[in-house]
Amino acid sequence: MQQREATSDLASSGGARGGQMALDAAQASPTPAIAATARILARLKDQPGPLLPVLHAVQHELGCIPASAVQTIAEALNLSRAEVHGVITFYPHFRSDPPARHKLEVCRAESCQAMGGDRLADHAREALGCDFHGHTPDGNFSLEPVYCLGLCAQSPAVMIDGRPQARVTPEKLDRIIARTLEATP
Ligand code: FES
Repeated sequence: MQQREATSDLASSGGARGGQMALDAAQASPTPAIAATARILARLKDQPGPLLPVLHAVQHELGCIPASAVQTIAEALNLSRAEVHGVITFYPHFRSDPPARHKLEVCRAESCQAMGGDRLADHAREALGCDFHGHTPDGNFSLEPVYCLGLCAQSPAVMIDGRPQARVTPEKLDRIIARTLEATP
């Protein structure tokens, strides 16, 4: 409700002055995502081509670009929500949901594929119950493809939370996933 009030403040204002006043009001919003987004917009909106820098800054600060931020950004930059949403979905880097607690990256490049990488990728999908670029329903793991981790001589390879793992079999992957879960607070 508070969020709706804050965004409608922004929507109902006309012209640059009204837009600035609405942005000032949004910075004081009790909804943290709106307030943070409005502060970023106040800093970046007047630079040339502000949309991408704003999206990067919002994701850096909030971990994702939530729907309330999309609304605030669209109104401040005089764009439609569909336009902002279109840019977010065009670039794989941007995400609308909070990141998973752990990131599993499976190498899909040639050397790993030649050493059982396809089987390992299938196993990762099955073990986590999600596809590449997706995440588990409990938010514990995201699954991403990666193209060479520099471990070609020890293929196939994966990376878990930035830590490379070499010569990974499906069984070893199960152990990596279980250990990671055990270590999750
Ligand atoms: S191809 Fe997988 S680590 Fe190089």
